[in-house]
Amino acid sequence: MLNQTVKTLAGFVVSAGLFSGAAFAGGHGAQAEVLHWWTSGGEAAALKVLKDDFAKNGGEWKDMPVAGGGGDAAMQTLKARVVAGDPPTAAQIKGPSIQAWDDEGVVGPPYHVDEVAKAENWDSLLSSQVANHMKCDGFTKYCAAPVNIHRIDWFWANKKVLDANGISMPTSWDEFNAAARKLQSAGIIPLAHGSQPWQDATVFEAVALGIGGNDFYKKVFVDADMSAMNSPTMIKVFDQMRTLKGFTDEGSPGRDWNVATGMVMEGKAAFQIMGDWAKGEFTNAGMKPGIDFYCLPTPSDHGYLYNVDSFIFYSMDGQSKIKGQKLLGSLMMGKNFQKVFNLYKGSIPARLDVPMDEFDMCAKGSASDLNYSAMTGGLQPSFAHGMTLSLATKGAIQDVVTEHFNSNMSSKEAAKRMADAVQDTL
Ligand code: GAL
Repeated sequence: MLNQTVKTLAGFVVSAGLFSGAAFAGGHGAQAEVLHWWTSGGEAAALKVLKDDFAKNGGEWKDMPVAGGGGDAAMQTLKARVVAGDPPTAAQIKGPSIQAWDDEGVVGPPYHVDEVAKAENWDSLLSSQVANHMKCDGFTKYCAAPVNIHRIDWFWANKKVLDANGISMPTSWDEFNAAARKLQSAGIIPLAHGSQPWQDATVFEAVALGIGGNDFYKKVFVDADMSAMNSPTMIKVFDQMRTLKGFTDEGSPGRDWNVATGMVMEGKAAFQIMGDWAKGEFTNAGMKPGIDFYCLPTPSDHGYLYNVDSFIFYSMDGQSKIKGQKLLGSLMMGKNFQKVFNLYKGSIPARLDVPMDEFDMCAKGSASDLNYSAMTGGLQPSFAHGMTLSLATKGAIQDVVTEHFNSNMSSKEAAKRMADAVQDTL
């Protein structure tokens, strides 16, 4: 499924470093307006690495932040800009949306960044699965560059709170429920959560992976299989969502994800279920895994939900902007950039040849789990973060998930509604 099965992070030898940006460095006159949604503390610290690299190479960066975790607001702004015929030089965007924009004829030809990719041999630096997410023109030409691999299915926890209550990191959903009940009776908020549609979906996909298993996850979120959606297993998934809702506090609706992470950091809450950008917040505050906080994948059968952050390069007029796109692409795929950026961001490098020795235990675990799950069928694309399904289908599922979470809808009704809503988008 994924070339990473053979090209392990540890063992894969490539010709990287020979190029690492050299061919396209020295970008005097390079300009880039960059649209992104990285506005939290950890996210901004990571993005600064790219901004600084761009400036050091003579580029002029124009920042276009659109706040809002998960990027839903950013995608609205992006759509308006592209439809108006004025796309940004580079935009943070992921998964099949990249090819969907290409189908609209606004990305290329020519695909300028493909020149960089060919010269720097990106095909040899990435797993074929990650590489394909970056390609347009029938998956033949690079039109986007990857900066990382985030994992979604994580528990984050405050170590002091867990230790003080005699709780260890849960390895099954039943264990989690028991731990949460214990914490609740001790007056601690068990689960820090911001109920925004994308955050509800983030938790939901981790639960679906765990309770349904890898094949079930694939049927629902990759194949959009109606019978898997409206099934007894899906009802169990919604039951667990209802249970989790009971572990959240009254302030949860609408709360930003990083505010929820802050609750865990302060010990007001014990756990958060969130992608590893949450780790970027802990580390940005100087907190260390195993000492101040715990990280552990949410329970599943060696599943791994991946989410690759990338930037698309639209068709562009003007030499300075084209130069900007090439320089950005080259910098993003730089070996040292992929290390430093990801140390801040909480994710792991998309490049296969970046040494992991400077990374913490969470990131090292993520890298080795990724390789293992790629070999055993557990590596699956995150639906909540746009790595699979069309935006319309994703939206249909997300709407039902969030409506169920924030109402008294029964699990049975939710499963049926999900299948019906998805059917309308196919
Ligand atoms: C994800 C994105 C991450 C992080 C998160 C919260 O979709 O991949 O990089 O920014 O949203 O905003």
